[in-house]
Amino acid sequence: MSKPVVLVTGANGEIGRTLLQRMHQDGLYRVVTVDLTPLPEKYRGLCLETYAGNIMDRYLLDQIAAHHEIEVVFHLAALLSTRGERDPDLAHQVNVEGTLHLLRMAQNQSARLGRPVRFIFPSSIAVYGVASVEAKKSAGRVREEDWNVPITMYGCNKLYCEHLGRYFTENFRQLGALSTAARLDFRSLRFPGLISAETAPTGGTSDFGPEMLHAAAQGLSYKSFVGPEATIPFMAMPDAVTALVQLLEADRAKLTKTVYNVSAFSESAGQIADRVRAAFPGAQIDFEADAVRSKIVDSWPEDMDDSRARADWGWKPAYNVERAFAEYLVPTIRKRYAQASTR
Ligand code: SER
Repeated sequence: MSKPVVLVTGANGEIGRTLLQRMHQDGLYRVVTVDLTPLPEKYRGLCLETYAGNIMDRYLLDQIAAHHEIEVVFHLAALLSTRGERDPDLAHQVNVEGTLHLLRMAQNQSARLGRPVRFIFPSSIAVYGVASVEAKKSAGRVREEDWNVPITMYGCNKLYCEHLGRYFTENFRQLGALSTAARLDFRSLRFPGLISAETAPTGGTSDFGPEMLHAAAQGLSYKSFVGPEATIPFMAMPDAVTALVQLLEADRAKLTKTVYNVSAFSESAGQIADRVRAAFPGAQIDFEADAVRSKIVDSWPEDMDDSRARADWGWKPAYNVERAFAEYLVPTIRKRYAQASTR
């Protein structure tokens, strides 16, 4: 029997590129991708088929579904939180309407195959909206149901799409003739800020962490858009991909929730700057806080309580902050920019 097909949207993004490498290593699935920009050759070789196009294009999604029996969807395509504040209409279109298109396609596939298509959706720390810096301090590690009052368009979009996914899984067309057809199997996790050694992110508000590191590795000076005391949880990209794959493979019967927090280590911008300076002596990092982006970071909790993910599907990050810098970020980033400069 041939291996099942996975569709990855946003495959050319930060998470996508690491996920493609991981899926290739594991060798359990054939991967089909869609992204606005064509995948670089290095990643195309890891895939069964790659499509360059927009998830708003329903014709394209229908065409992909007609060509492949898709059993799993990783829906990674999104506009992040800073970009979303610059263009809230577009963020809503891509993050909500785009997700709805994918959910509809996965639902149709489930009905066609007669079994649930698993739909993995990365949500975000941005779904939380803590009222003040004082409330943030006293809230500590927030649980999934706490402070669900986001202050960004992106956070609203992610929170609503978590609900949409649950609706498609549990109640889709509950009054209609199709009420007994196979439904999709939606599973979501809320990521903290992610740090990848492969790529610097674009358009996010947790970007100060990865941007500091990527700038220093290239010998560039960096001005942080939040002050040194701004604190949120972060996670190394290999752990983020592990979480996605573990949630995909988790036994449905053991899942007590549709949405799970996952977290790794909580650091302030000042602490990250110190770690970057230790790894790249002479790194020039200054702080010039932007009022709005700082307010967004202040509305995100200091840490997320991920005990449900640990209990239900065995989540445990491999990288604490020391390991993340010493064994993944610094060595990989050094190699990456050394190669880039000899090209
Ligand atoms: N990294 C995202 C952002 O900054 C949060 O999910 O928007």
